[in-house]
Formats: sequence, C-alpha cells, structure tokens
Amino acid sequence: MKIIFLGAPGAGKGTQAEKVAAHLNIPTISTGAIIRAALKEGTEMGLAAKAYIEAGKLVPDEVVIGIIKERLANDDCKNGFILDGFPRTIAQAEALDAMGIEIDLVVNISVDDATIVERMSGRRVCAACGATFHTKFNPSADGDKCDKCGAELTIRKDDKPEVVADRLRVYHEETEPLERYYDAKGILKTVVGQEKLEDTTALTFKAIGV
Ligand code: AP5
Repeated sequence: MKIIFLGAPGAGKGTQAEKVAAHLNIPTISTGAIIRAALKEGTEMGLAAKAYIEAGKLVPDEVVIGIIKERLANDDCKNGFILDGFPRTIAQAEALDAMGIEIDLVVNISVDDATIVERMSGRRVCAACGATFHTKFNPSADGDKCDKCGAELTIRKDDKPEVVADRLRVYHEETEPLERYYDAKGILKTVVGQEKLEDTTALTFKAIGV
C-alpha cells in the first residue's frame, strides 16, 4: 500500500504512521525526520534547511521533492510505503503525480489548533533514535530518558510556542488545500484525532481497512 498521512503539525501523523508501518511491514518516510538528520550531520542540505525549520517555514519545494525522489528509489519502497509530512504543498503533490506514483489512500488526521498547541508543548523526542513521547499523553516510563534506547529526551526547537503559531499558519495556507486535491481524486479519508493515542490508532486502522 502507498499511503500519505496528512494533517497539521503535531496532529499525530508520525505517531500513527509508525504503528501502521509496523503492522504492514512497510517503511515510513518522514521528510521532517530526513531533514533533521541532515541538520544533525551538518550536510549541505541540512544547513540550508536550518533557517526554514527553526522559523516554522516550509523548506523549498525543489529540495524536498529531490529528497523524496531519491528515497522512493530505494528497494524497501517496492512493496509500499507511508509518506509522513510529504506532500505539503500542491506543487509537491503534483510532483508526486508526475513521478507516476499512484497513492492508494490519504489519511487526514484532523485536530483543532488548541489541541495542537497542547500536544507540541508536551512533546519530547529522543535525541538518538527519534522516538516521540508526550509528558501527559504518552510519557516515557523513564522520565527524561527514552524507553527504546535510553538516550536523553529533548524538546524540538520548532516546538517553541511562537514557532508553533507560524507552523499552524503555514499549514492552513499551504497544506490544508491538499484535502480538496485528494478528495477530488476520491482517496481522502479523514480521521478525527482522539485524546487517547490508541483510540486514534483504532480509527486509523479502520480507515486503512486493516
Ligand atoms: P515534520 O517533522 O514533518 O513536522 P510536522 O508536520 O510539523 O509534524 P510533527 O512531527 O510536528 O507532528 P506529527 O503530526 O508527526 O505529530 P506526532 O506524532 O509527533 O516537519 C518539520 C519541518 O520540516 C517543517 O516545519 C518544515 O520546515 C520541514 N518540512 C518537512 N516536510 C516538508 C515538506 N514536505 N515540505 C517543506 N518543508 C518540509 O505527535 C505530536 C505529539 O502529540 C507527540 O508528543 C505525541 O506523543 C502526541 N500525540 C499524538 N497523537 C496523540 C493523541 N491522539 N492524543 C494525545 N497525544 C497525542
């Protein structure tokens, strides 16, 4: 299956994508995670993206489209994949179409802005393996350490309240129009995000039909 997870920043795309990917045994491709890894390694692309990410702005389309083209050519994508955080603009969606990739389903996780702000303020991310937790909704058993690898949990720079407001504005202006784009193709399913992670997972699995 080829699935896109759409939704506001912090809607839970990454959290749900990880569960679906494990169930279907397909990779999750998160452009945000790829860019953050490049930033950590100090590559040219990572350094070029730094200012955009930290200001809550979108990285230019041509950069992200290049990342996706390269990643989708890998062997592990042959039996399907989940795109988390791509496409984020109509131009990116059109580029995906132009690559000849037929998406089976777009899962749109819908969460109101006030809830998003609460989720971002409590998000903690493992500095080593990237696992995501939440101080209230999905706490690590070990407090400040990652349950999976034991490394330190950190706060993402773009989770600062002033940056979150900008990310939400960008989402409404540039990414939300994709709902109409994929609805017109008849492949959009909306899941209303629930307070409990496992309730959203149950609705997501139902939308996917697994
Ligand atoms: P990216 O990493 O994609 O960030 P995002 O879309 O802003 O999404 P997040 O990772 O913040 O949230 P999520 O929806 O995955 O939520 P999560 O599962 O973590 O992108 C970062 C930046 O990279 C962008 O701003 C941009 O600059 C750049 N970029 C990336 N892709 C790009 C593209 N295609 N084009 C241009 N630029 C691009 O959940 C959030 C929190 O809530 C967690 O703590 C989680 O535990 C908790 N939670 C989740 N679900 C629930 C629930 N149901 N109940 C309670 N808590 C929950």
